[in-house]
Amino acid sequence: MMQPHKSNKEDVRHFYDQVGWQLEDGEHYQNAHYEDLRSVSQEYIHRCHLRVNRHLKPNGRFLLDAGSGPIQYPEYLTYSEHYHYRVCADISIVALKEARKRTGAKGLMVVADVANLPFKPDAFDGAVSLHTFHHLSLEDQARAYDETYRVLAPGASAVVINGWSESPLMKRWGWVARWMNGLRGLRARLLGKNTRPAAKPAASPSESPTGTFTVKNDPAWLKKTLGGRMDFEILVWRSLSVNFLRAVFHEKLGGRALLRWVYKQEERNPHYCGENGQYPLVVVRKQSAT
Ligand SMILES: C[S@@+](CC[C@H](N)C(=O)[O-])C[C@H]1O[C@@H](n2cnc3c(N)ncnc32)[C@H](O)[C@@H]1O
Repeated sequence: MMQPHKSNKEDVRHFYDQVGWQLEDGEHYQNAHYEDLRSVSQEYIHRCHLRVNRHLKPNGRFLLDAGSGPIQYPEYLTYSEHYHYRVCADISIVALKEARKRTGAKGLMVVADVANLPFKPDAFDGAVSLHTFHHLSLEDQARAYDETYRVLAPGASAVVINGWSESPLMKRWGWVARWMNGLRGLRARLLGKNTRPAAKPAASPSESPTGTFTVKNDPAWLKKTLGGRMDFEILVWRSLSVNFLRAVFHEKLGGRALLRWVYKQEERNPHYCGENGQYPLVVVRKQSAT
């Protein structure tokens, strides 16, 4: 008998309800497996999270969080700090129930598809969407950008973050990650310890596993899709993939100082690192009505 067809969106929703947004240790969700939570990377990751604020209006009435998840990292709350309401839109009801706990009276929860937003045009003074559009087909990713743009008020901007399918920078420096992982394995064998890879297994240091359906894109696709339709800019969010971070940067090997250096390079070359690093920060701006 044929199985009923489950759409990608149903798969994704099911994954986040049943797995991704389940708390594992009372503090972190399963989804946090895809982040580097080690203290050596904390400062770098914290500063990258805060980059989002630079491109949003500092205050306003409604901020849209498209694919909010449970608002799992404290920095995410800063985006709506001076807004009256943060509208969290997500297909996962578990995500929204968790997000409610963190947003209190400021949070307005809406079960919605980011490719088909149930809001009127020009409704939001700002919008963010982090690590969500990559769960959509490319056709729907284009729609999600259009929808985000449609609901932005004139003069407002949105920040969209997703990983590229491939990062030339991570590819170029991949040998360092492989070398470090090799050394780590050798050391463990010599000490008679169980060898465990530094990161969850992935084919290349630029790969970011997500546990469910994803389609990544590249700068050429983004420029072709958004070009002529909206004002946008590709900047850096984080040039380092999680696998690369875990393999290369360690407390005892000056990891913190090295990451400060990396951050400085990203600040100096935001466009280059945005297009060539692992995670771009895409700013979409809607011109003010004249
Ligand atoms: C990787 S999580 C990111 C959550 C949050 N933005 C963050 O950075 O932690 C992706 C989120 O997008 C939601 N999502 C996936 N596809 C969606 C869609 N078509 N419409 C709305 N939300 C969606 C998932 O339910 C999940 O909560």
